[in-house]
Amino acid sequence: MSHIAYVNGEFLPLEQARVSIEDRGFQFADGVYEVVACYGGHFLALTAHLERLARSCAEIGLTMPLSVDELSSIVRQTYEKNRVDDAMIYMQITRGVAPRVHVPAHEPSPTLVITVRALPEPSDEKILYGATGVTLDDFRWKRCDIKSIALLASVMGKQQAVQAGADEAFWLDADGHVLEGSSTNIMAVIDDTLTTHPSDQRILGGITRDIVLKLAAEDGISVDERPWSLEESGLSECIMTSTTNAALAVVRMDGKPIGDGKPGPMEARLRKLFLDYVEHQETI
Ligand code: PDD
Repeated sequence: MSHIAYVNGEFLPLEQARVSIEDRGFQFADGVYEVVACYGGHFLALTAHLERLARSCAEIGLTMPLSVDELSSIVRQTYEKNRVDDAMIYMQITRGVAPRVHVPAHEPSPTLVITVRALPEPSDEKILYGATGVTLDDFRWKRCDIKSIALLASVMGKQQAVQAGADEAFWLDADGHVLEGSSTNIMAVIDDTLTTHPSDQRILGGITRDIVLKLAAEDGISVDERPWSLEESGLSECIMTSTTNAALAVVRMDGKPIGDGKPGPMEARLRKLFLDYVEHQETI
């Protein structure tokens, strides 16, 4: 069965879905996006994702073509038109089609595209044995809080990780603090405290990160949002979070084991808390 995409008010088979080569998303990466998971009809924090999309639009001065409520309804319709149980819903808003000048004379009407695909989840092996990472100096821009479609640095980071036989690249600031991954957030367990970089302009404020931190605090785990480094004594585990990974152990970094090199008790606890939370999410 063909996938159905939503493009500017129309539902179309994916092969027929098109945008112009003059779209500013194509010409300038002038746009923002979101990725939401839906598990068998249970959307995970759809409203939070749509609110982050609205914030990204506001930060780049792009008028959202629809309200959060209207968008929520279209996302649900697009999901229903695709027979994918556990799905990854991708939505992208660009500034629209205009001749290629940096600031167009008239504000074009934005392009909105939504696609639905099977949710790429970590393999059983990754859950059992953990993922691996490499560290890279952060060469991205200074507004990583905006979920921009300009992902060249992330692509290059991920390429380097794959070339090194690892799963993810993690960005370090000039002082060696771990910021986040190329498409994930990361937290460490340091002296039993769940420690992660504060949500500022250096990282994307991950929805999964926020949920995990909230669930952890409610479960009595001590949480600290501060810059941290891999060299800190007392560091026993690293856990990466994202819409497609939930909470997943990172057991080696740059070839060296983290803690005992195996997924630890905090990761198991957080993963369970998170999956229980998913079960109780809004159904379509
Ligand atoms: N990536 N940091 C970055 C740079 C990201 O691109 C992502 C998400 C995250 C995690 O955010 P969330 O928990 O809201 O998914 C952190 C998505 C999944 C992607 O680009 O495919």
